[in-house]
Amino acid sequence: MNHSPNHSLRTEFLGQSLPSPLVLPSGILGMSHGSLRYALEKGYGLVTTKSLSLSPREGHEGPVVARFAGGVLNSLGLCNPGIDEGLREVARFVEATGAPVLVSLFAVNRPDFVELARRACDGAGSFIELNLSCPNVMDEFGVPLAASRDLVADIVEGVKKVCRLPVVAKLSPNALDLPSIALAAQEAGADGVTLINTLGPGLLIDTTARKPVLHPRFGGISGPAILPLALKIVHECSGVLKVPVIGMGGVSTGDDAVQMLMAGASLVGVGTAVWLSGIGVVDEINLGIREYLEREGIPSVAGIPKLETGHER
Ligand SMILES: Cc1cc2nc3c(=O)[nH]c(=O)nc-3n(C[C@H](O)[C@H](O)[C@H](O)COP(=O)(O)O)c2cc1C
Repeated sequence: MNHSPNHSLRTEFLGQSLPSPLVLPSGILGMSHGSLRYALEKGYGLVTTKSLSLSPREGHEGPVVARFAGGVLNSLGLCNPGIDEGLREVARFVEATGAPVLVSLFAVNRPDFVELARRACDGAGSFIELNLSCPNVMDEFGVPLAASRDLVADIVEGVKKVCRLPVVAKLSPNALDLPSIALAAQEAGADGVTLINTLGPGLLIDTTARKPVLHPRFGGISGPAILPLALKIVHECSGVLKVPVIGMGGVSTGDDAVQMLMAGASLVGVGTAVWLSGIGVVDEINLGIREYLEREGIPSVAGIPKLETGHER
């Protein structure tokens, strides 16, 4: 990354100083220490692991990813090598780079989240992210946890009791009144909130085969189509929260990232854009943010003014 001496992208987040506000979101480049390291080298300031569960999980049979004009539909499921193998990869990454890692955890109930957090806190990660929003596995497990204030609060509180690391709750856009759910997470002790996970699920149809394009039929929607929704949710939630927000959903350009920061995010996830345009998009977005800072005479990312909360709500 070509750092300008005057307009640094350096960003503070929960006690860590990051070289860029851009975050590799969970699930975008897998889980190996090599791919996390590659992401760091390509301009991300912070990387997130694939969501890890207590036991290894196989994904769905393909095809599990499909493009459409507004982005991507995916039904990858929460395939992952399990917490123990995942933490070994995190340790290798940290040993090689010394960089912080957001360790994403996935479970369907409080005891399993607590056990995952207990193990993750003994590992080399810097922060824990609780993936409370899983549209792809909704059929298996019912309503996503993130749709319930009480469940979100209960899980965050349980995890905080056993965890020495900062805990970030990742919420789903597929719920009503996101600000009240985000507040419940904060009141239960969350140190930050990530917004948003994939929208939907949605459906794409192969008109020749007269079948769904994806094998498990439905998939989570990500990419440019969800940017306006993500901005609105980040704006509404950050307006009521004291803890920092990691904003993501459809960010593909420097201007999108600046919008996300103005909406109230402290860090910005760039996921599907990498699938659509290649990893070079990360540094293009870094450059776009830096050009904005220079043009507007703003000395740092933290100085980007937040959009005022209107009277719409
Ligand atoms: C292929 C794929 C896999 C994903 N896997 C996970 C995951 O394991 N855990 C999670 O919390 N989010 C997962 N997500 C959601 C992303 O982390 C992110 O919240 C979402 O894609 C919105 O950002 P984007 O539009 O920049 O991709 C996945 C998204 C995609 C496209």
